Formats: sequence, C-alpha cells, structure tokens
Amino acid sequence: MPSHSPPWAVNAEGVPRSLSPPPKQEREGEMPKDIHNTPPLLAGAHADTETYNAMYEASISDPEGFWAEHGKRIDWIKPFTKVKDTSFAHDDVHVKWFEDGTLNVAENCIDRHLATRGDQTAIIFEPDDPNEPAQNITYQQLSDEVGKFANVLKDLGVKQGDRVVLYLPMIPAAAYAMLACARLGAVHSVVFAGFSPDALASRINDSGAKIVITSDGAPRGGRVTDLKGNVDKALLHCDDHVKCLVVKRTGQQVTWQENRDIWYDEMAASASTFCHAAEVGAEDPLFILYTSGSTGKPKGVVHTSGGYLVYAGMTHQYTFDYQENDVFWCTADVGWVTGHSYIVYGPLVNGATTVMFEGVPTYPDAGRFWAVCEKHKVNQFYTAPTAIRLLMGQSDDFVTKYDLSDLKVLGSVGEPINPEAWNWYNEVVGKGKCPIVDTFWQTETGGHLITALPGATKLKPGAATKPFFGVQPVILDPQSGEEITTVEAEGVLCMKDAWPGIMRTLWGDADRFVSAYFADYKGYYFTGDGCRRDADGDYWITGRVDDVINVSGHRMGTAEVESALVAHEKVAEAAVVGYPHELKGQGIYCYVTLMSDADPSDELVKELQAWVRKEIGPIAKPDVIQWAPGLPKTRSGKIMRRILRKIAENEVDGLGDTSTLADPSVVDDLIANRAVK
Ligand code: WT7
Repeated sequence: MPSHSPPWAVNAEGVPRSLSPPPKQEREGEMPKDIHNTPPLLAGAHADTETYNAMYEASISDPEGFWAEHGKRIDWIKPFTKVKDTSFAHDDVHVKWFEDGTLNVAENCIDRHLATRGDQTAIIFEPDDPNEPAQNITYQQLSDEVGKFANVLKDLGVKQGDRVVLYLPMIPAAAYAMLACARLGAVHSVVFAGFSPDALASRINDSGAKIVITSDGAPRGGRVTDLKGNVDKALLHCDDHVKCLVVKRTGQQVTWQENRDIWYDEMAASASTFCHAAEVGAEDPLFILYTSGSTGKPKGVVHTSGGYLVYAGMTHQYTFDYQENDVFWCTADVGWVTGHSYIVYGPLVNGATTVMFEGVPTYPDAGRFWAVCEKHKVNQFYTAPTAIRLLMGQSDDFVTKYDLSDLKVLGSVGEPINPEAWNWYNEVVGKGKCPIVDTFWQTETGGHLITALPGATKLKPGAATKPFFGVQPVILDPQSGEEITTVEAEGVLCMKDAWPGIMRTLWGDADRFVSAYFADYKGYYFTGDGCRRDADGDYWITGRVDDVINVSGHRMGTAEVESALVAHEKVAEAAVVGYPHELKGQGIYCYVTLMSDADPSDELVKELQAWVRKEIGPIAKPDVIQWAPGLPKTRSGKIMRRILRKIAENEVDGLGDTSTLADPSVVDDLIANRAVK
C-alpha cells in the first residue's frame, strides 16, 4: 500500500481497493430503446489514490470521452450523440450537456429499478416524533405513489414545462411531488417550509407557478408550523388563478377557500398509479431553486435534466462510496439543494435506500441523530458543521449510548468545518474509522465540486481537499483576475470549465446569470468564495468574499436582511454584515439608523428581530442590532462594508484606510458602541 494512502484504502483482506468505473451496460451500437430493460447501475466506487488521479486526469484531458462514458450511467430514451458544448467566455456563456438526448428523470429514479429492486426500500421516513412509526417505502410503493401524484397534478392541468411550487415538511409526499413533476416534465421549485409567506409569494410569482403544494401543518422539534396558513397569507399577493393542493400531515384545522384549495387525498383516492412519463430533452429544466445573492432579490437557479442527474448520481456514489444495500442519510431539508441532490435524485437514481428525517437534531434530545443512525443502521451520514458544533456542546453520552457500528463514511457540507468539530465528528461519532468527506459545493453547482473520496484522499481537518472528476478549480488574484499558478496559492475560487451538474441560467434573468457569475473574472465561473491551496494541492475554502453570509449553513444575502429592516417604519437605514458565531458559523450583525422620531430601546431591538424573522423566516433573525447614528460612507455615498465587518468582528485595530470616508467620526461612534468587545 502506498504510504500516502489512508488505512481505509484497503479492503478487509488488506488489498487495495480499486475505483471501478460504472459497469458498462450491455449495448451493441445503439442504446436500447426500451429503458425498462436496462439494469440499474450501482457500481462499487472503492477508491485508491492512483485510480482517482488517473480518472481525474482522464476527465480533464478528454472530457468528451469521459462524460460520454459516464453519461451512460442513466437511461436515455433517445441516446445523446453530442456530449458537451460549454463556454464560460464572458460574451458567450453557454452550457449544454448531452443536448440531443432525451430521458425522463422519474423513470430513471424509479421504473428502471423495479425489476431488480421493487421490494427494496427506497425511502425510510423517520417522523419528527420518535414514537410515531417510521415508514419503509419500497421502490414499488414509490412508483405507485409518484404515479398517483403525477395523475393528480395532471388532472389539475399541470403540463410539461409548467412550474409547480412545493412548500412542504420533510415527508415522503415532498419526494413524491418532486418526482411527479419530473414524470410530467413539469418544473418544481421547492421553497423551504421555514420561509415566510412573503418569501413564498415572491417565489410563486417569480416562477410563474399556477399551483402550490403544501400540507396542513409541519411538525418539527415537537412544535407545529401552520403551513397552510402561511400559504393563505402568501396567496393574497399572488394571481387569483394559483391553486393550492394540500397534503394531510397533522390533521389540524385549516382555513379553506373553495375553488382554490384542494385536498390531495380526495383526488388521489380515484387516481391511477400508472402515469405516462414525458420524454424530456436533456437540457429541459428539472427544477428552479431560489438562493441568495448580493442583491435583495433571490436568484432562481435553473437546473436541467440530463447533466444534473448524471452528476447527482455520480457524486452520490463516489463521494460517499455508496455500496449495494447501504442505507444513506443526508440530514438536510429538501428545501435546499443538498436535499434535492442527496436525499432525492442522487440516491434514487442509484437505486439506493435514502432516509428522510422530518425532525431536528435536538428533539426529543441531543441524541436523536445517533438514535436514528442506530435504528435504521445508517452506513453513510451527511450533515452540516453547525449541527456538529451544536451536538458536540452536549455530553458525549448522547452519542456513545447508541450502536453506530454500521457507519462507514461521514460527510460535511454547507460551510468550512472547524478542526475541533472535525475531530469530534471523527473520534466520537466515527470512532476514528470513518473517513470524513468535506464536500464543497453550491446551489448553483448541482453536486459536489471539491471533496475527498473515501480511500482515495488523504484527509485534513478543515480542507475540502481535491476536485471531483471534471472539475477544474483555479485560484485567482482578486485584484488582477490572473490565475495564480503556483501550487501554494490564496485568492478567489473560480472554475475553468463546466461540469454536467452546473446550473444553466437564472429563471427569467439571463443577464443576471452572466453578471453574477461570469463578469467579475472573465472566462471563469466565480464561486463567490475565497480559497487557499496548500503545498499538496489541497483546497481549503475560506468563506464568502461577497455580500453573502452563511448562517448555520444557510445562505443569506445581507441585502435581503437590509431590505427587510428598512421596510420597518422606524428604520431609516440599515447595513448588515456577518460576524464569527460559535454555533452558527456566522451570525447576523445589523447596524441600524433610526428615523429621527424613533427611540432606540431594548424593546425596539426585539421588535426589529421579530420583524425580520416574520419578513424572511426564522433563520434570518438578527443576532445583533447596533444603533448607528450614521454609517461609514464614501463621498459618493457607498457604504464601506469592509469597516463594518471589522467592527463586528471586533478587529478595530486593522480598519485600513478610512480617508475616503465622508465623515470619519461615525466610525469612532460605531467602535465605541460595538456589541462584541
Ligand atoms: C456556499 C454555498 C451546497 C450545499 C449547501 C450550501 C459554502 C458549502 C462548503 C464546504 C466550506 C462551504 C460556500 C458556498 N460552503 N459547502 N464544504 N466548505 N464552505 O449551498 O446555500 O448554495 O451555499 O456554502 O460559501 O459558496 P448554498
């Protein structure tokens, strides 16, 4: 065994594992027309460093050949003949993969598995309340439920290309609804159930959806959110034609508007379990997912069908070393891209067993994650550093009292993982035996970009390590925009060429797609993150360099919080920055200038916190509000956020050049009254 390989690069017999490419399907010339006869693909991805290096090299030197082969891991109705047509050139950004192929995503996630794994569990549903029985949903049952759901949507007039908004708890119906849209070729847009009615309304309106799917209530952490009530409020701001399809979850009382609201169960009772699957183009949209950018308006990231599915499946298999019969658990919510790629599409296209958890890590106590791992014999566990930090603050007994011997791989996502959290995860949860894959990626990227592969990558606490196949990270000098070509480098993180899972555009805003991602550094995709590359060529993400903050792994534009604050009648002006927060990674620090007739008081702090929470959602509640008689501005009126960040971080000695400020004295006041000293 080569000395740089970690111990898990060998199998039980001490023989190095090899990273096998997905098995080739039996094909002579053309791919089969009848996709139901094609065997599902579940390859062993056990890795070693040499094989990773060779495969990575091949993916970069011959992307056409590499992806032509790996594109076959899914079933095509009409096989593609063109593999890749991509350009990041500023005046000609376009991304197309497998463009002349056609497929159906739901058929890939369900039908093709039925012959061999109809009785295998596809989804394990673990409810919020541990006393409520879990559900094991087989692939056959999944097929029936998705067929019914698709027929209900069809009866409501949903057609190929139509947008459907989902606002649901983490229940199987969320997956059914996503897959039902995919079956019809409709485009889903899942809105996180923790978002406010206003946030929901703006997403319904921007996407032009004519239907929103919700549930009566959403149990979470022993409390119930009135989801239907939120939809009622949202729909006051939407077109009268928008319908609301309601799934029963809690059985609670709901308000009802005839001709608009429909009980799912009533329609499903008479719906057939068979629904014809639409043939969609590889580049037809599969979903829109709204995420935060540098302005107040969320961006509708558009993912298409073929390339996304190939990439979600491949990263799920390789990054987590998913093996036949393993139980995979990603703790994210389907309201985020992590849930799309690693609860639903990646696992299901691979014929895997995926856990859907409705609850929170600390209910009924801080042992819940580990109780669920024991109960369902979880093999791969994927969560966020913020959850790990929260749990490591509790007694280790919450972990050690459970049998976690089935765990093989641990994953981390959402923000840089600090070494203390990494070590606790490794030692207390993984007992030093489970490789930790720290997966760097984004809503926009569809799947992992930079991540370790179990067995293939030497792990370092806090490093995302190496690029996935086909991904070409570069580090640029932020000022000159030049590539830094030395092995050791620090700067902004960009990507040189496209991989199949990258977004294709922003919904209804092709110009912003180019200006947000391809304009600052011409010829590259700009991630918005800072990054360091060490002497071994490993990548360490250092955090966002734009006006986006990362609160408990949730991405938020500071501008969104600012516009919520200034919408309050007592607020004249607001500037929002992130600051280091022990549990959340970053907290929300708001500088607020009040209207002249408003009095700064503790009550007003609480009022503004509650206000932002209501406007955006609980995750956006400000941690700190500092009254600011004035904000540091340049003579041209631009707020100097760099200074506000430093004050919030309590780094007041290194404020840098303040000479361009219109009134330097405001800075002294802000320093004197800063929240953290
Ligand atoms: C931003 C993207 C992709 C799923 C979850 C978040 C940060 C994400 C890591 C990581 C360091 C990370 C980046 C990125 N981020 N994963 N492993 N190490 N930072 O998706 O909401 O689109 O946020 O999350 O800053 O740009 P998202």
